[in-house]
Amino acid sequence: MSAKKILLTRIYPKVASDLLEENGFLVTKWDKERPMTSKELIENSKGHDAILCTLTDTIKEQFFKECTTVKMVSQFAVGYDNIAISEATRLGIPVGYTPDAVSEPTADIAFGLMIATARKMFYLHKSILKGEWGYFKPNSDLGLTLKNKTLGIFGLGRIGIETAKLCKGAYNMDIIYHNRSRNKQAEAELGATYVDFNTLLSQSDIVSVHCALTPETKELFNKEVFSKMKSTAIFINTARGLVHNETDLIEALQKGEIWGAGLDVTNPEPMQTENPLLQMENVTVLPHVGSGTIDARDEMSRMSATNIIEFFKNRAVPYIVNPEVLQ
Ligand code: GLV
Repeated sequence: MSAKKILLTRIYPKVASDLLEENGFLVTKWDKERPMTSKELIENSKGHDAILCTLTDTIKEQFFKECTTVKMVSQFAVGYDNIAISEATRLGIPVGYTPDAVSEPTADIAFGLMIATARKMFYLHKSILKGEWGYFKPNSDLGLTLKNKTLGIFGLGRIGIETAKLCKGAYNMDIIYHNRSRNKQAEAELGATYVDFNTLLSQSDIVSVHCALTPETKELFNKEVFSKMKSTAIFINTARGLVHNETDLIEALQKGEIWGAGLDVTNPEPMQTENPLLQMENVTVLPHVGSGTIDARDEMSRMSATNIIEFFKNRAVPYIVNPEVLQ
């Protein structure tokens, strides 16, 4: 049997290519300092047996139509809204992903954004750079206390649970959540309470978004939704920028309908430097770095390479989005 050819759509941690090569795969690497366009992705994938890709690679119907040699897609991310899963499933193509590895680091970012926003950290850092550190003013630059507040988790999955644990442990927060379905185990472990969406909005001091991007969640956090939140509330999004409408978020902050926002994801990405959010006191923005620790990215590389290796060895794909294709 000839060696299987795998395209790596980016420079991933070495763990991925090392593992693939040790297992006899022929690895092609896209090593330019920019992502491929969709057209380049299709052209470069042709002739490969699998691709190891990530969230900004568009793998939709056209990709599958043209890249007929590709028998497996291995995503280096927990989210997979860049991939037409139903089309992959219809064609019998397994799609791997990297859950768990990203949960704790992403929860750290959600938790960090809460503190940084509540205490205006990024804004104050910028004010020092502008030479604005004057004298002590007891009434200036005041933030919010997080202890004993209510955390509303939208999407209590792996990352939401880790975020809730941090907030409960550090600040004794009450945890309420809204999900497509109830998570009885998390309720028992975290003392979390399931509430309807409107109650989540009206009762939370912090609303933290941890859902997947789907047609139902796309721009769900809009004008109307922000107007139902507390005027003292902080909105945190570490999931997907497209879950919020950014113009409506800016307006809600400007009108004081909500107090602050901490974002690791923006709509669109990358955020443009002239975005008014970057100048607001109570806003903290990061450039989509949720999973960005050395350990997590190495583990994601291991998981995404292992998915490919196991598939071509005719063994169970350990981290798979559409297991039905292999049954
Ligand atoms: C990051 O956004 C991921 O989906 O892993």
